[in-house]
Amino acid sequence: MEPFAAVDVIRAKRDGQRLSSEQIDWVVDAYTRGIVAEEQMAALAMAVFLNGMDSAETARWTGAMIDSGERLSLHVARPTVDKHSTGGVGDKITLPLAPLVAACGAAVPQLSGRGLGHTGGTLDKLESIPGWRAELSAEEIGRQLAEIGAVVCAATPTLAPADRKLYALRDVTSTVESVPLIASSIMSKKIAEGSGALVLDVKVGSGAFMKTEKQARVLARSLVDIGAAHGVATTALLTDMSTPLGSAVGNAVEVAEAVEVLKGGGPPDVVELTLALAREMLTLAGLSHLDAEEALASGEAYETWCRMIRAQGGDPDAELPKPAHVHVVEASETGVLTRLDAYAVGLAAWRLGAGRARKEDPVQLAAGIRCLAKPGERVERGRPLLELHTDTPDAVAGALAALQGAYDIGEHNPGHDDAPAVGEGTVLDVIRG
Ligand code: URA
Repeated sequence: MEPFAAVDVIRAKRDGQRLSSEQIDWVVDAYTRGIVAEEQMAALAMAVFLNGMDSAETARWTGAMIDSGERLSLHVARPTVDKHSTGGVGDKITLPLAPLVAACGAAVPQLSGRGLGHTGGTLDKLESIPGWRAELSAEEIGRQLAEIGAVVCAATPTLAPADRKLYALRDVTSTVESVPLIASSIMSKKIAEGSGALVLDVKVGSGAFMKTEKQARVLARSLVDIGAAHGVATTALLTDMSTPLGSAVGNAVEVAEAVEVLKGGGPPDVVELTLALAREMLTLAGLSHLDAEEALASGEAYETWCRMIRAQGGDPDAELPKPAHVHVVEASETGVLTRLDAYAVGLAAWRLGAGRARKEDPVQLAAGIRCLAKPGERVERGRPLLELHTDTPDAVAGALAALQGAYDIGEHNPGHDDAPAVGEGTVLDVIRG
């Protein structure tokens, strides 16, 4: 005999009432067991979308989703700390960040997903490295964390299975964009992976989930509060996603850029954000006395990257896949590049084959875009602005259509105008628990 009827729980939320802890625990568990039907959960998700959940309800909902599966127990001597990004265009930060923080002495268990839509997936990017394997068992994850300190791999299906089911339902019922549902979805997976601390990169701007700073702040606060309620020290950074991060957007091109950063080079905005997140992670791990910049400059982070890639069957020295076709977009006039829109570039890269439309679609490892100028830079008419990479030349027309109106070139005199400085202002704010 079930203790509640789904219809009563739906009615309570429909009428704007708080759900009790018992109702939340039951409805999430009963949905996972198939007792609450898809159409009932769809109605409840819409009621939550319209009437919200307060922070105590959201924390409880998160707990119920964690309890729907297993929690990884990471028996490692090092302090564990992870990072999660809400997703952005050119966001390859996990690739240099995980080995960098590991090189400083923490353990970073990065259980990631694949890309869907205009933002790329970390696993898709890493799979452009010949031989690299995303699927690891819980034992392999534990061993690699203990020996190397960093693992980036596919989330095991036993982590928060309620979220897997609910996310697919929200996707087809227009109930994704609800702060309590997004926050509980993200945090249930992250807390279930067993990390002691968590740093969140909450993106703001055209290429992000949250288009305005106000929305992003509300999400960041909710994420940090859930972490606190579950005893996981959590900090959120609000970071700019109005323009792509770095120069590379895609799979193999992003890996190449991440390796540049690990070798001490790379675009200033990628380096800035990697170091900002690394410092927050080290602080939460109790290692704030260690110098992330030094670990990057000394090559220790690059060495840890090579070990991390080899441990998962990859060859860090192998040549990365090259596209069959490259199309160059030239600047239409001379002046300062004042805007390069993240969403448009992400969509164009996706149309070139870097992303997938359905979960089961393959991605092209060599597809993507290289942004040859960043906002704030001076460009000359006819100078290459964007390089479109694809294995399917027919895809170029769709990418060019996505790029219509994606950038502005102004008359500004660099240094004496209101154009942004190159790579400036990636981190907008830090929200602590
Ligand atoms: N990412 C998630 O994991 N869940 C959401 O609901 C939205 C983004």
